[in-house]
Amino acid sequence: MTSTAQAKAPDPRGSGAAAPALVVTGLGKRYGGVQAVDGISLELAAGERMGVIGPNGAGKTTLFKMIAGDVAPTTGTIELFGRDVTHMSTAPRARLGVGRTFQVSNLFRDMSVLDNVRVAARGGSSKARAFWRTQGMTDDVTRESILMLDSLGLTGRRDDTVADLSHGEKRQLEIAMALVSHPSILLLDEPAAGLSAAERATLRQLIEELPRTLPILLIEHDMTLALGLTDRVMCMENGRHVVTGTPDEVREHPTVKEIYLGRRDKK
Ligand SMILES: Nc1ncnc2c1ncn2[C@@H]1O[C@H](COP(=O)(O)OP(=O)(O)OP(=O)(O)O)[C@@H](O)[C@H]1O
Ligand SMILES: [Mg+2]
Repeated sequence: MTSTAQAKAPDPRGSGAAAPALVVTGLGKRYGGVQAVDGISLELAAGERMGVIGPNGAGKTTLFKMIAGDVAPTTGTIELFGRDVTHMSTAPRARLGVGRTFQVSNLFRDMSVLDNVRVAARGGSSKARAFWRTQGMTDDVTRESILMLDSLGLTGRRDDTVADLSHGEKRQLEIAMALVSHPSILLLDEPAAGLSAAERATLRQLIEELPRTLPILLIEHDMTLALGLTDRVMCMENGRHVVTGTPDEVREHPTVKEIYLGRRDKK
């Protein structure tokens, strides 16, 4: 990555810390009879990395969708960089700096790797991207997209179609697409799902080397990644908050132990 990638992490809760990147208060989402998210509150400091863990169906993706603006909350509020965005739709939230990857891939399989990054650099929703795929591609957009692919180790794959990439390379590409719009906060939904051990190691290094000034919310079932890449971790279960703490505190929490080591299987 760039030289900023090596910058030292700010103390997320130290004195003189900047305003929080994200404040979620009492957030809830009900789908019919299912309370997918139930009164979740969290605060992500400037430059902080937080893991979100919990068993299948805990409400992690629904929480992300509400933060990104895909889904309207039933209760609660969301503030990004001090601004109430609870009722703001996805596109303006993206313009405010929300970058994200999806649990289910959002790539254009028949397009080249470079073109995927170029349409992401042009911005807009995934539907709009399909329209803009060949329009308005300036030299600057192309240059920036090439630099982004270089920095994420995909230089040699630039002209290949997405369908030819390995699963790990697709995940790297999704992160390149999230980063090329220069997000101010990054939401990653299970970036390591389905990856081999070697691909996980590559992904881990890639996330570690992201600029430490970029706040990250990372949903991940892989506990080594979720606890190894973050400053704090929140565990959810059945839509509800279980515990938030340092990786060590969360690892030792009795309910977390029961969920991940006990009778209930993780993914
Ligand atoms: N669009 C929807 N309509 C109805 N129910 C939904 C919808 N989306 C999610 N749910 C339900 O909400 C609950 C939380 O789902 P969610 O996808 O947020 O969980 P998750 O923690 O991301 O799970 P996983 O680890 O499997 O990805 C589940 O019971 C799910 O079936
Ligand atoms: Mg999910």
